[in-house]
Amino acid sequence: MTHRLWLATPLDAATMAELHKPAFADAWPEEAFGSLLSREEVFAVLGAIGDDRAAKGFVLMRAAAGEAEVLTLCVASEARRDGLGQSLLIEACKIARVRGADHLFLEVAENNEAATLLYQKLGFKTVGRRAAYYRQADNAADALVMRRELGGVKADET
Ligand SMILES: CC(C)(COP(=O)(O)OP(=O)(O)OC[C@H]1O[C@@H](n2cnc3c(N)ncnc32)[C@H](O)[C@@H]1OP(=O)(O)O)[C@@H](O)C(=O)NCCC(=O)NCCS
Repeated sequence: MTHRLWLATPLDAATMAELHKPAFADAWPEEAFGSLLSREEVFAVLGAIGDDRAAKGFVLMRAAAGEAEVLTLCVASEARRDGLGQSLLIEACKIARVRGADHLFLEVAENNEAATLLYQKLGFKTVGRRAAYYRQADNAADALVMRRELGGVKADET
Protein backbone atom coordinates (compact mmCIF):
# COMPACT_ATOMS: atom_id res chain seq x y z
CA MET A 1 0.00 0.00 0.00
CA THR A 2 1.06 3.58 -0.54
CA HIS A 3 1.34 5.92 2.42
CA ARG A 4 0.41 9.58 2.63
CA LEU A 5 2.69 11.44 5.03
CA TRP A 6 2.37 14.99 6.32
CA LEU A 7 3.91 17.24 8.97
CA ALA A 8 1.85 17.71 12.13
CA THR A 9 0.79 21.05 13.59
CA PRO A 10 -0.35 21.64 17.20
CA LEU A 11 -3.91 21.17 15.85
CA ASP A 12 -3.08 17.46 15.41
CA ALA A 13 -2.50 16.98 19.15
CA ALA A 14 -5.91 15.36 19.74
CA THR A 15 -5.43 12.90 16.85
CA MET A 16 -2.01 11.99 18.17
CA ALA A 17 -3.32 11.42 21.71
CA GLU A 18 -6.07 9.16 20.28
CA LEU A 19 -3.51 7.08 18.40
CA HIS A 20 -1.13 6.97 21.38
CA LYS A 21 -3.72 5.82 23.92
CA PRO A 22 -4.20 2.19 22.83
CA ALA A 23 -0.53 1.78 21.94
CA PHE A 24 1.08 2.60 25.31
CA ALA A 25 0.29 1.80 28.95
CA ASP A 26 1.57 5.27 29.91
CA ALA A 27 -0.14 7.17 27.08
CA TRP A 28 0.44 10.93 26.84
CA PRO A 29 -2.44 13.41 27.04
CA GLU A 30 -3.42 15.78 24.23
CA GLU A 31 -1.91 18.72 26.15
CA ALA A 32 1.51 17.02 26.14
CA PHE A 33 1.44 16.69 22.35
CA GLY A 34 0.22 20.27 21.93
CA SER A 35 2.96 21.60 24.16
CA LEU A 36 5.70 19.51 22.50
CA LEU A 37 4.58 20.51 18.99
CA SER A 38 4.76 24.18 19.89
CA ARG A 39 8.53 23.84 20.48
CA GLU A 40 10.76 24.84 17.62
CA GLU A 41 13.01 21.75 17.91
CA VAL A 42 10.11 19.25 17.91
CA PHE A 43 8.25 17.95 14.86
CA ALA A 44 5.97 15.05 14.01
CA VAL A 45 5.06 13.18 10.86
CA LEU A 46 1.57 11.71 10.56
CA GLY A 47 0.70 8.96 8.13
CA ALA A 48 -2.35 7.43 6.47
CA ILE A 49 -2.70 4.32 4.33
CA GLY A 50 -3.78 4.58 0.70
CA ASP A 51 -6.58 7.12 0.17
CA ASP A 52 -7.71 6.99 3.79
CA ARG A 53 -8.07 10.52 5.20
CA ALA A 54 -7.56 9.47 8.80
CA ALA A 55 -4.08 9.30 10.28
CA LYS A 56 -3.17 5.77 11.31
CA GLY A 57 0.18 6.51 12.89
CA PHE A 58 2.79 9.12 13.70
CA VAL A 59 6.34 9.64 14.84
CA LEU A 60 7.30 12.52 17.14
CA MET A 61 10.92 13.67 17.05
CA ARG A 62 13.25 16.27 18.47
CA ALA A 63 16.22 17.57 16.48
CA ALA A 64 18.68 20.00 18.01
CA ALA A 65 22.43 20.61 18.14
CA GLY A 66 23.22 18.04 15.46
CA GLU A 67 21.33 15.25 17.21
CA ALA A 68 17.83 13.87 16.77
CA GLU A 69 15.76 11.71 19.09
CA VAL A 70 12.59 9.69 18.57
CA LEU A 71 10.22 10.80 21.35
CA THR A 72 7.48 8.36 20.44
CA LEU A 73 6.16 6.31 17.52
CA CYS A 74 2.95 4.38 17.05
CA VAL A 75 0.76 2.83 14.39
CA ALA A 76 -2.89 1.86 14.98
CA SER A 77 -3.20 -1.89 15.52
CA GLU A 78 -5.45 -2.37 12.45
CA ALA A 79 -2.84 -0.66 10.23
CA ARG A 80 0.27 -2.51 11.40
CA ARG A 81 2.60 -4.59 9.22
CA ASP A 82 1.83 -2.46 6.18
CA GLY A 83 5.12 -0.59 6.29
CA LEU A 84 3.66 2.62 7.75
CA GLY A 85 5.96 2.64 10.81
CA GLN A 86 8.91 2.28 8.46
CA SER A 87 7.66 5.06 6.12
CA LEU A 88 7.12 7.42 9.06
CA LEU A 89 10.62 6.83 10.43
CA ILE A 90 12.32 7.23 7.05
CA GLU A 91 10.48 10.52 6.43
CA ALA A 92 11.37 11.74 9.93
CA CYS A 93 15.04 10.83 9.33
CA LYS A 94 15.04 12.97 6.17
CA ILE A 95 13.52 15.94 8.02
CA ALA A 96 15.96 15.55 10.93
CA ARG A 97 18.82 15.52 8.42
CA VAL A 98 17.53 18.72 6.80
CA ARG A 99 17.37 20.21 10.30
CA GLY A 100 21.08 19.48 10.72
CA ALA A 101 21.08 16.23 12.70
CA ASP A 102 23.95 13.81 11.99
CA HIS A 103 22.58 10.93 14.02
CA LEU A 104 19.37 9.74 15.59
CA PHE A 105 18.90 8.15 19.02
CA LEU A 106 15.95 6.30 20.48
CA GLU A 107 15.07 4.15 23.47
CA VAL A 108 13.01 1.00 23.20
CA ALA A 109 11.94 -1.63 25.72
CA GLU A 110 14.11 -4.67 25.12
CA ASN A 111 11.04 -6.92 25.03
CA ASN A 112 9.28 -4.79 22.38
CA GLU A 113 10.05 -7.16 19.54
CA ALA A 114 8.08 -5.37 16.80
CA ALA A 115 9.75 -2.00 17.44
CA THR A 116 13.22 -3.48 17.96
CA LEU A 117 13.01 -5.40 14.67
CA LEU A 118 11.74 -2.29 12.86
CA TYR A 119 14.67 -0.22 14.14
CA GLN A 120 17.19 -2.94 13.27
CA LYS A 121 15.75 -3.17 9.76
CA LEU A 122 16.34 0.58 9.35
CA GLY A 123 19.97 0.29 10.42
CA PHE A 124 19.81 1.26 14.09
CA LYS A 125 22.49 -0.33 16.28
CA THR A 126 22.26 -0.88 20.03
CA VAL A 127 24.73 1.43 21.77
CA GLY A 128 23.58 1.19 25.40
CA ARG A 129 21.14 -0.21 27.90
CA ARG A 130 19.22 1.31 30.83
CA ALA A 131 18.36 -1.30 33.44
CA ALA A 132 14.71 -1.61 34.55
CA TYR A 133 13.80 1.56 32.65
CA TYR A 134 10.24 0.67 31.65
CA ARG A 135 7.87 -0.23 34.49
CA GLN A 136 5.47 -2.91 33.35
CA ALA A 137 2.62 -4.82 35.02
CA ASP A 138 4.67 -7.19 37.16
CA ASN A 139 8.28 -6.46 36.30
CA ALA A 140 10.54 -3.87 34.74
CA ALA A 141 12.01 -4.07 31.26
CA ASP A 142 15.45 -2.84 30.28
CA ALA A 143 15.60 -0.10 27.67
CA LEU A 144 17.93 -0.43 24.72
CA VAL A 145 19.48 2.80 23.49
CA MET A 146 19.79 2.62 19.69
CA ARG A 147 21.53 4.91 17.26
CA ARG A 148 21.59 5.45 13.51
CA GLU A 149 23.83 7.73 11.47
CA LEU A 150 21.83 10.09 9.27
CA GLY A 151 24.67 10.97 6.93
CA GLY A 152 23.61 8.30 4.44
CA VAL A 153 19.91 9.24 4.41
CA LYS A 154 18.92 10.06 0.84
CA ALA A 155 16.04 12.27 -0.22
CA ASP A 156 14.64 9.41 -2.34
CA GLU A 157 15.02 6.64 0.28
CA THR A 158 11.77 4.70 0.71
C1 LIG B 1 6.37 -0.71 16.41
C2 LIG B 1 5.28 -0.24 15.45
C3 LIG B 1 5.32 1.28 15.35
C4 LIG B 1 5.57 -0.85 14.05
O1 LIG B 1 4.68 -0.26 13.11
P1 LIG B 1 4.27 -1.02 11.76
O2 LIG B 1 3.67 -0.01 10.85
O3 LIG B 1 3.46 -2.22 12.07
O4 LIG B 1 5.69 -1.49 11.22
P2 LIG B 1 6.06 -1.79 9.70
O5 LIG B 1 4.90 -2.47 9.02
O6 LIG B 1 6.60 -0.56 9.06
O7 LIG B 1 7.23 -2.86 9.88
C5 LIG B 1 8.51 -2.68 9.28
C6 LIG B 1 9.41 -3.82 9.73
O8 LIG B 1 9.50 -3.86 11.16
C7 LIG B 1 9.51 -5.23 11.62
N1 LIG B 1 8.27 -5.49 12.36
C8 LIG B 1 7.27 -4.61 12.59
N2 LIG B 1 6.31 -5.19 13.36
C9 LIG B 1 6.71 -6.46 13.58
C10 LIG B 1 6.14 -7.54 14.30
N3 LIG B 1 4.95 -7.45 14.93
N4 LIG B 1 6.83 -8.71 14.35
C11 LIG B 1 8.02 -8.84 13.72
N5 LIG B 1 8.62 -7.82 13.02
C12 LIG B 1 7.97 -6.66 12.95
C13 LIG B 1 9.59 -6.07 10.37
O9 LIG B 1 10.97 -6.20 10.04
C14 LIG B 1 8.88 -5.20 9.35
O10 LIG B 1 9.27 -5.45 8.03
P3 LIG B 1 8.47 -6.59 7.20
O11 LIG B 1 7.00 -6.32 7.38
O12 LIG B 1 8.96 -6.38 5.80
O13 LIG B 1 8.88 -7.89 7.81
C15 LIG B 1 3.88 -0.73 15.89
O14 LIG B 1 3.94 -2.13 16.14
C16 LIG B 1 3.35 -0.05 17.15
O15 LIG B 1 2.75 1.03 17.08
N6 LIG B 1 3.56 -0.66 18.32
C17 LIG B 1 3.06 -0.11 19.60
C18 LIG B 1 3.80 1.16 19.99
C19 LIG B 1 5.30 0.93 20.05
O16 LIG B 1 5.79 -0.08 20.54
N7 LIG B 1 6.05 1.94 19.55
C20 LIG B 1 7.50 1.93 19.57
C21 LIG B 1 7.97 2.41 20.90
S1 LIG B 1 9.75 2.53 20.97
